[in-house]
Order: sequence, then structure tokens, then C-alpha cells
Amino acid sequence: MRILVIGSGGREHALVWKLRQSPKVTRIYVAPGNGGIAAEGVTSVPLAVDDIPALVRFAREQRIDLAVPGPELPLTLGITDAMQDAGIPCFGPSRHCAQLEGSKAFAKEAMRKAGIPTARSATFTDYEAARENILAVGAPIVIKADGLAAGKGVVVARSTQEALDALDEIMKSRVHGAAGDTVVVEECLEGEEASFLCFCDGATAVPLPSAQDHKAAYDDDQGPNTGGMGAYSPAPILPDEEADHMADLVIRPLLRVLAEEGHPFKGVLYAGLMMTPEGPKVLEYNVRFGDPECQPLLMRLTADLADAMLACVRGTLAETPLTYTPRTALGVVVAAEGYPGAYAKGMEITGISDADALPGVKVFHSGTRAEGDKLLSSGGRVLCVTALGDDLDDARKNAYAAVAKICMPHGRFRHDIGRKGILRLQKKK
Ligand code: AMP
Ligand code: GLY
Repeated sequence: MRILVIGSGGREHALVWKLRQSPKVTRIYVAPGNGGIAAEGVTSVPLAVDDIPALVRFAREQRIDLAVPGPELPLTLGITDAMQDAGIPCFGPSRHCAQLEGSKAFAKEAMRKAGIPTARSATFTDYEAARENILAVGAPIVIKADGLAAGKGVVVARSTQEALDALDEIMKSRVHGAAGDTVVVEECLEGEEASFLCFCDGATAVPLPSAQDHKAAYDDDQGPNTGGMGAYSPAPILPDEEADHMADLVIRPLLRVLAEEGHPFKGVLYAGLMMTPEGPKVLEYNVRFGDPECQPLLMRLTADLADAMLACVRGTLAETPLTYTPRTALGVVVAAEGYPGAYAKGMEITGISDADALPGVKVFHSGTRAEGDKLLSSGGRVLCVTALGDDLDDARKNAYAAVAKICMPHGRFRHDIGRKGILRLQKKK
């Protein structure tokens, strides 16, 4: 099998690493990839993730058997439909289904139709109407730009003024451009968050184990939101044995509604959950693997990832066993100082091979590039150092022991990845 992976982050490195383990996979291309992915012995192709015609042309020329887009952008641009039109199987939802991530208003409406628990909300295209709603409801309240905004389109406002300022920024100053032409104003939920992903083949949904991301930049969930500073699986707040029940609650009803409307969802569907005192509620859907959740999740997957992805595309997931190790995996993101704000690039990274040599450790590259025989940082998130362990505490120790081997000037990482889960497990004892 010849595979084309699309993307350039730690998630895509994990996808490539796992797909390479499949005896069926003979060749992997990655567009555009990064320094660490290239070192996996795959072929990097300098094509941008949003250049759909060029990606389709390349896939056709190279007789690709499966295209695997990592990020949301190509999916919302319709890469799956375009690949299919060219006769190339593509692991991911259609452009229609990708609106679950590409439009928060679309996702809210789909959840309403499917009866999925979520925050109460109202959708507005009119600034004055949105403003009146905020004044009527009061704080705390959540303001969301409808479209893709690189994870920056959500403001959890603690005061009415903060909410009104956010509305002005989104609708008047248009800081996210057209993504803010529509806004969703939403009830603020309290609780612990968890990531819940399912493989989907249009009709069947098979859960992956739960995971937990760490979105804030600094320890104790302080500082600005990032793409994610670390993740682990399973999340004790959602044990593996409860995954099937969770799929019945937040994934399967949605698949049914989409299929009935003629748009079967294929690929991976990710529900961002808030575990509230009244039960789990969906904060958002993503139509792809999370980054960094993908890294620990794929370290736990013992089944053949190429088989699982093909089963999603072909509609044979019900007959395809998915297996995971019961061990825990935990990843710590090493970032450039300043991220998610301005940060320096081009710092030399050393010690990765020492970290990789530790048992059960894999260093996934998020933003690196090779220059001669040196490896330099090229992004805000640079590495995701991931380790398996017998339990959460063991995985955490192993991951931080690996982080300690790595040297990067102006690098920083959170020291408390996994702490919430460890506290929860201690309380249970
Ligand atoms: P989203 O892109 O919708 O997941 O929002 C990003 C982050 O904003 C989530 O991970 C939550 O931390 C927070 N968030 C979103 N919606 C809500 C809500 N209704 N109540 C509280 N926090 C929220
Ligand atoms: N880690 C959250 C995301 O990928 O959206």
C-alpha cells in the first residue's frame, strides 16, 4: 500500500510512525512533513496542506492507495471529496461532514437534531441581536466565532464587559475575518475536560480510549490557551470501560442523523467533552485526530492503523478488531519560549536519540527541520516526548525522564502533565 499523509506536526509524525508498522504499507509520502518525519525514512513532498488540486494530482501520479489528511483545513476544503472524485480512497469526512468542525453553528444544529447533551446556545449573524442576548443572559458566558480560527475563536468571558469586548473583536474588528460573520453565544459549563475520539465508517463508530489534553501554556492551567502542551491516555475521568457508553451518548446519534441526511461520516470524530456535575456535555467536535492526543493514543494502539483507516473508508469497521495496550501513554510538549505568542525559531535540538533509546519512549516532532546533520526548531510546539508506562504515574516518570535528555535553548514545557489524572486516581483509592 502506498500512503500519502498530509500535514507537518506531531500528530502527522505519529500517524507516519504507526502506519510504517503495518506490513501492508510499502511506501509513505508526507506533504509537507518536517525534519523528524523525514528521518522516519519517508519521502517528503513540498506541497501545502491547503493546495487540494496539487495534492490530488500528486496522489494520482504516485498511485496512492490511501490519503490521510491530519489537520482540519484540507478536510473543510473538501480534500476527501476531491480525492474520491479522482478514485483515491481518503481517510476523513466529506466537506459537508467537516462542517462539524468548520462551523460551530452547524455543529450546534447537528447536536440539537441528534439530541446530544451540550451547552445551551444561540446563533447570531446580527451584531445587535448578539449584544442583547449577552446583556440578557449575563456572565459567565462563552462567545465563539463560527468558523475556523486556529483555536483562538473561543472566549470564555467572566464578565459581561469581557463578553461584549469579545463580540466587538469578532464581529466588528473581524479579527478572525469571515470566520466571525456568525457567532455562537453559549452557556458557560464548569468541569474537567476530556477528549473522546471514535473511528467511524459512516454507520459504525468504534471508540478509541479516552485522552486528556492540557491547553493552557503554563503549569496549573495558567496562561494563554495553546494547541495543547501535553496529553495522556486513558484519562481516569473517562475509563476505557466507559468508552462504549460514551459513544452511544455523543457520537452514534450524530452518525445516524448525518447518514439519514445522506452524509455518512467517515474518518475520526473527536468530541471535546466537559464532564459537568450533570453529566458529560459536548463542547465541540473535531473531524480529525487531536494534536497532541494522537501521539499517546497511537502509542497505545496495537492494531494495524492502515487496516483501521481502510475499514473506515470501505464501511467495514464492524468486522475490524481494534486493540489497545492497557498501559498508559503520556506525551509532554517541548515548546519554544513565548509560544503561543511570538517565539524564536532555529534553536538547535540535541539529545533526541538518547531520549528515543529509553524503553517505551518515542519523540514525535511537531516543529523541526534538518539542516546538514543538525536538527533545528521551526515551530512554537517543537516536540512531543511520549512514553508508555504501567500506569499514569509510571508513564509520567518515563516521559519526563526522556524530556530531561533533550536540550534546546529557549525551550520550555509544562511540569504537570498528567497531574489531574493522578490526583483523581489517588482520590479513588
Ligand atoms: P472549543 O473550540 O469549542 O472546544 O473551545 C475551546 C475551549 O474553550 C474548550 O476546550 C474549553 O476549554 C473552552 N470552552 C468552550 N466552550 C465552553 C463552554 N460552553 N463552557 C466553558 N468552557 C468552554
Ligand atoms: N488538542 C486539541 C486539538 O487538536 O484540537
